[in-house]
Amino acid sequence: MDSGKRVTVHLMLAVGAAVIGSLQFGYNAGVINAPEKVIKKFINETWVERYGTEINKSSLTILYSISVAIFSIGGIFGSFSVGLFVNRFGRRNSMFMANLLAFVSAALMGFSKIGGSWEMLIIGRFVVGLYSGLSTGFVPMYVGEVAPTNLRGALGTLHQLGIVVGILIAQVLGLDTLLGNSALWPLLLGFTFIPALLQCILLPFCPESPRFLLINRNEEHKAKSVLKKLRGTTDVNEDMQEMKDEARQMMNEKKVTIAELFRSPLYRQPILIAIMLQLSQQFSGINAVFYYSTSIFEKAKVAQPVYATIGTGVVNTAFTLVSLFVMERAGRRTLHLLGLMGMAGAAILMTIAMALQDQLQWMSYVSIVAIFVFVAFFEIGPGPIPWFIVAELFSQGPRPAAFAVAGFSNWTATFIVALTFPYVEDICGPYVFIIFTILLLGFIVFTFFKVPETRGRTFDDISSAFRKLAGTRGDKYPAEEMNSLGADSQL
Ligand code: GLC
Repeated sequence: MDSGKRVTVHLMLAVGAAVIGSLQFGYNAGVINAPEKVIKKFINETWVERYGTEINKSSLTILYSISVAIFSIGGIFGSFSVGLFVNRFGRRNSMFMANLLAFVSAALMGFSKIGGSWEMLIIGRFVVGLYSGLSTGFVPMYVGEVAPTNLRGALGTLHQLGIVVGILIAQVLGLDTLLGNSALWPLLLGFTFIPALLQCILLPFCPESPRFLLINRNEEHKAKSVLKKLRGTTDVNEDMQEMKDEARQMMNEKKVTIAELFRSPLYRQPILIAIMLQLSQQFSGINAVFYYSTSIFEKAKVAQPVYATIGTGVVNTAFTLVSLFVMERAGRRTLHLLGLMGMAGAAILMTIAMALQDQLQWMSYVSIVAIFVFVAFFEIGPGPIPWFIVAELFSQGPRPAAFAVAGFSNWTATFIVALTFPYVEDICGPYVFIIFTILLLGFIVFTFFKVPETRGRTFDDISSAFRKLAGTRGDKYPAEEMNSLGADSQL
């Protein structure tokens, strides 16, 4: 049907307002790296003022590392709490309310210098981490639920686009010639209030998720009128019917807890896939690059490491755009596999370049190219897909719990990589990316054998295919059997 395909103004407004939350996450993930020196200087000055003596080096490193890492701890807690909000307040209202956290954190971080308190900075980073953790559940869930089936992947990719644009803005504004200097860094961090304000202005004009209205609230009339606006047509029977089918299926799984996700054979396969895809995203080593690129470039003897870092942000954004356009053509499974394979190749190239750089000077250029290729392939699949596929793998009942588990896995893995990479790098030297290569190979094998294609299939179709497979085969099924719309008939 043609009507479902249309990108209407209402749909774009809804998705656009939601992904401001993704941008907020990306901005705060990227913002703290460039101004490292000036923030350390601030901590030291505050220390001198309080205690009359300079802070020692190891305490300074610890305080700074806490300011960086506490963001992920906030993310872990936030992502895990997604289920507490979405069914009680609805998807849109949950996103709206979360902005309170963003405002509080903007104030804490923005006024930490005037207040002479690095504690405010640390708490502010934790609070915006909470916001970001919630966002990584709220946004892909809402977008997945308002999108028509045939555009779900492309619109889902906009969550990732929001993140990467946020990172890029933070990288650029963080340059010392712009805001990353002693005078202006509080503004750089305090800018968090801008996306929050923008989202609070736009969200009231956006509809609640029609699936939430119909399936969770049983408000058929409202759901129908929202759908009409989103689809730009009065003929929404097909969508309504699909949601009703899902609602019927859901009679005995209205709300699924996290524990039930693991206990029930119905959900064991999809939750395993969701977790593994999140792990493949983070243990690919992407944030070793994003958090430490400047020092990686320095070690590779690149002349202008800061600009090479911004180059990474640009490549990152450009290839997320590419994936936006190919997502509905090539399919998730293919793109995820292609992305992981390209990353593994680039990681090998990077290792060779790093190992040979002492003998061959031009290897520093090869390192830059290898990192750019690594990032480009990441955005082809492993960047966007794990976020939005969670909505696709689960029906309405288990979806909030599934997002909590997936988000928790992602944030925990990010935290582990961020914390351990510098130490592992010390031990392994130029060979550190071999570890990621091995992990990537493992994820390629998993994806090949276990991840089904979800492109173009309705939520109900995907979950009933899982249901049938769980019923007839227990846990073992070849992914191929899930890969066509006629999955059921192949059993
Ligand atoms: C994904 C990851 C995030 C990473 C970003 C890089 O959104 O979840 O951790 O920093 O991609 O583009």
